[in-house]
Amino acid sequence: MSEERRFGPKGPAVTRTGQLALAALAVAGLAGAVLVACGGGSGGGGSAVALPPASAPAAAASSPAAAAASTPASTLSLAAQVGQKMFFDKNLSGSGAMSCASCHDPAHAYAPANDLSVQLGGVHMDKAGLRAVPSLRYKDITPAYADLLDNPDGISVPGPGGGFAWDGRADTLAAQARIPLLDPLEMANASSADVVKKLQAADYAPLIAKAFGEKVFDDSDAAFAKALQALQAYQLEDRSFHPYSSKFDLYAANKIGGNLTPAETRGLKVFTNPATGNCASCHYQGAGLNGSSALFTDFSYEAIGVPRNANIPANNDLKYFDMGVCGPLRTDHAPAAPNAANSFCGMFKAPTMRNVATRQAFFHNGVMHSLEQVIRFYNTRDTRPELWYPTVGGTPKEKNDADFPAYGLITTQYTGGKVKKFDDLPPAYVPNIDTQLPMDGRAAGSAPPMSEQDIADLICFLNTLSDADTKPATPVKPGACVN
Ligand code: HEC
Ligand code: HEC
Repeated sequence: MSEERRFGPKGPAVTRTGQLALAALAVAGLAGAVLVACGGGSGGGGSAVALPPASAPAAAASSPAAAAASTPASTLSLAAQVGQKMFFDKNLSGSGAMSCASCHDPAHAYAPANDLSVQLGGVHMDKAGLRAVPSLRYKDITPAYADLLDNPDGISVPGPGGGFAWDGRADTLAAQARIPLLDPLEMANASSADVVKKLQAADYAPLIAKAFGEKVFDDSDAAFAKALQALQAYQLEDRSFHPYSSKFDLYAANKIGGNLTPAETRGLKVFTNPATGNCASCHYQGAGLNGSSALFTDFSYEAIGVPRNANIPANNDLKYFDMGVCGPLRTDHAPAAPNAANSFCGMFKAPTMRNVATRQAFFHNGVMHSLEQVIRFYNTRDTRPELWYPTVGGTPKEKNDADFPAYGLITTQYTGGKVKKFDDLPPAYVPNIDTQLPMDGRAAGSAPPMSEQDIADLICFLNTLSDADTKPATPVKPGACVN
């Protein structure tokens, strides 16, 4: 590994949730990158710990595939072959027009092909969903949800982590698959028995019998459980769900084509630097759980105060709040009474950064539509909240000042009034908001943590996390990521 690939945090220990957290040093086989931990939300920080340089190499990422070719069907298990048929079968919906692939398009890293915040589904394909559709790539290593999941960085205190969906309410890929099949806003089948009937009538019913036995359809509940397992097997086995074919994978494996440009190298430093971007603190890219590596998530949950999205019809009800782990979609961590203290309210999963530059709707509610906008939100949520949250009681200016940025969600400038910060969280839960960099709660009007150069470099770096078969949502300008 060449010297330029090694770097450590030059900055001081980062302040996390008001406590000294750590500045850790790990020079490991992977990328020699430095990782700062994110144990998950306001649960607490650790003491300052420095890791010794690892002599054993970190678990290497799977070798990069030439492209994200699917695994040949013949080498998939029979269950996975069934799952593959099901994944693309539009008959498995109340409308007859929607399959898993309608929202999780393989040509878009298993995320939607469009830029809608939430997708339309239901029996008549006219019902808007509640959340943005995540990519299904790199989910195979996700552990089941736990309130005190060990942090893969090995340093942070355990905290809420693991599980599928933005709130972790499904423990396995099989359990997750039940949700869209039966959700009246999504595939909208009337019941699990309804799904099984459709499978029994499918042209691949013989394959199902071959995979699960001739008597598989005798017990509808058991057959439905097998069907969910089939979908899980497909996502686990087919390489197109975890191709590891990005430029970053070549870089991590020290392969030809893996030389990061100066701009990308600087971007990686911003990503890991606890004093500026600090992204790796939650979008952790080191050796992870179960021998994984470079997943760019530590599976943890935090409340970061993503603004409310008025384009989601459910939000027309001003009393409706999607609060992630504490509900309402998830029901096992609900507050004892409305607004009763509950540290889980507002927490959502820190998703992987792999293929993030291919996404067209960001955060659990899809309120943002470009990577640059997301990064600018991280940078200025606290220093310029008026760009992200509504101002109440002010007077709109006839014309914005020349220096009023156009990248925010709010494009009208006001005189007077008060910015309603954290407008998608009941005030009782605002204390749950995480306070680590880059959003450390600094005063409005103060300098943001990242410079314009940092932001440009970070975008360059994040583009190296896209698999070879994907297209960037916003192509980088020619030459922009070279020097
Ligand atoms: C109407 C669009 C839609 C369809 C169709 C759909 N999904 Fe999803 N999928 C979503 C949304 C939205 C989420 C996030 C759900 C949440 O956080 O509550 C999601 C989440 C997931 C996740 C969790 C990913 C993660 O990051 O934890 C998996 C796995 C998944 N879907 C698999 C499937 C499978 C398998 C099917 C077909 C049986 C399917 N989906 C059909 C919209 C869809
Ligand atoms: C305190 C932990 C934390 C830190 C630090 C952090 N993130 Fe996040 N990130 C999250 C969480 C939690 C979400 C999901 C929030 C939600 O949807 O409500 C998220 C979501 C995102 C998304 C949206 C991804 C998608 O698929 O919709 C992007 C992009 C992102 N983060 C980039 C970054 C970058 C770049 C940095 C550094 C500048 C960073 N994050 C720092 C926790 C963090």
